[in-house]
Amino acid sequence: MAKTVRVCHYKKLKIKLNGDVYPCCTSYPHTKLGNIFDEDIYDKIENSDVICECPMFKSIKRTPEDKIDLDYIHYETSNICQATCVCCTQSKNKMPNENSHLSKIKEIIEYYKPKNIIAIGGEILVQDKAFNDLFDLKQKYPEMKISTITNLCVGKERLRKAEEIFDKMTVSMLGFTELTYKNEMGLDFNKTMDNFMDLYKNKKVKLSPKYLAMPTNLFEIIPFFNWAVNLDVEKIYLHCIIELEHIANFNTRFLYWTKTFEKVEKQIKDIFEKNQELLISKNKHFISIHKNLAEKLNISQEYIDSLNLNNIVKITV
Ligand SMILES: C[S@@+](CC[C@H](N)C(=O)[O-])C[C@H]1O[C@@H](n2cnc3c(N)ncnc32)[C@H](O)[C@@H]1O
Ligand code: SF4
Ligand code: SF4
Repeated sequence: MAKTVRVCHYKKLKIKLNGDVYPCCTSYPHTKLGNIFDEDIYDKIENSDVICECPMFKSIKRTPEDKIDLDYIHYETSNICQATCVCCTQSKNKMPNENSHLSKIKEIIEYYKPKNIIAIGGEILVQDKAFNDLFDLKQKYPEMKISTITNLCVGKERLRKAEEIFDKMTVSMLGFTELTYKNEMGLDFNKTMDNFMDLYKNKKVKLSPKYLAMPTNLFEIIPFFNWAVNLDVEKIYLHCIIELEHIANFNTRFLYWTKTFEKVEKQIKDIFEKNQELLISKNKHFISIHKNLAEKLNISQEYIDSLNLNNIVKITV
């Protein structure tokens, strides 16, 4: 596929937890534009040239005709979260300058008025300032589309306000029974499911359920997928933790993990096959399966093609 040639930072900005600003999530060191606390950050954003190339884009030198018109600002809030997920890659330390960090980002958003905001914690739904800033932005600029990733395990008052803010939410789950969910995340499965179905029925927020598979919750990806595949949601993510390879040792004498994954493979493939027609009727990219998990479950591109699901199911990174 031909690459889109553009001035990348005139279309998207990614602001990291330390305030560094890049043109995209890849954040190659040579593409750093500055830091939100630089006095001349707006000049740096607008007067830098980013020469870069990736599989999708080629970023070229600006011309006087190019004007900044951001499709996206993607930013990170603090790692504060009410959950205790065993796999979480983030430290739970409070940011020393969280308030000024968030205020500066809000200022940058109001200055550029991007079409889309992607804000990710930690857990934004329990972070008062990050949450209220987004609420304020949505009130002022209702046309801005705001998305996040969340565990959704909050009280009804927060949920109602979240429904006002977010156009899209990806909801991460690390289990699909009360016990596993409690053990993996330290949260209440019924509360999350109740919230999910509450938003689902109201249809204001586009929802994408995401399962994060790991050895200790592996079998529950089956009831999760069975549930999610029948929902009218934006997308379903079947993902796995980054450490899967290291903690599931496939070279043991009696092939514990090989046999375990074979059982899961059979049942996941049954779901794909039973729902083949329903999936084809979605007519869009509907399921994203992480390549490491796809490999363990023998869900290859050939298998996807054999079910005529090549536009529906994508193996992603
Ligand atoms: C760090 S969380 C922050 C947002 C929110 N608290 C949540 O968990 O959905 C962002 C994403 O990272 C994923 N994640 C957490 N631990 C991971 C791990 N060890 N490997 C890969 N992804 C992970 C979660 O499933 C979630 O979708
Ligand atoms: S070319 Fe790709 S990696 Fe480089 S800045 Fe643009 S989007 Fe990012
Ligand atoms: S809900 Fe998200 S941020 Fe919170 S502990 Fe779990 S993975 Fe980490």
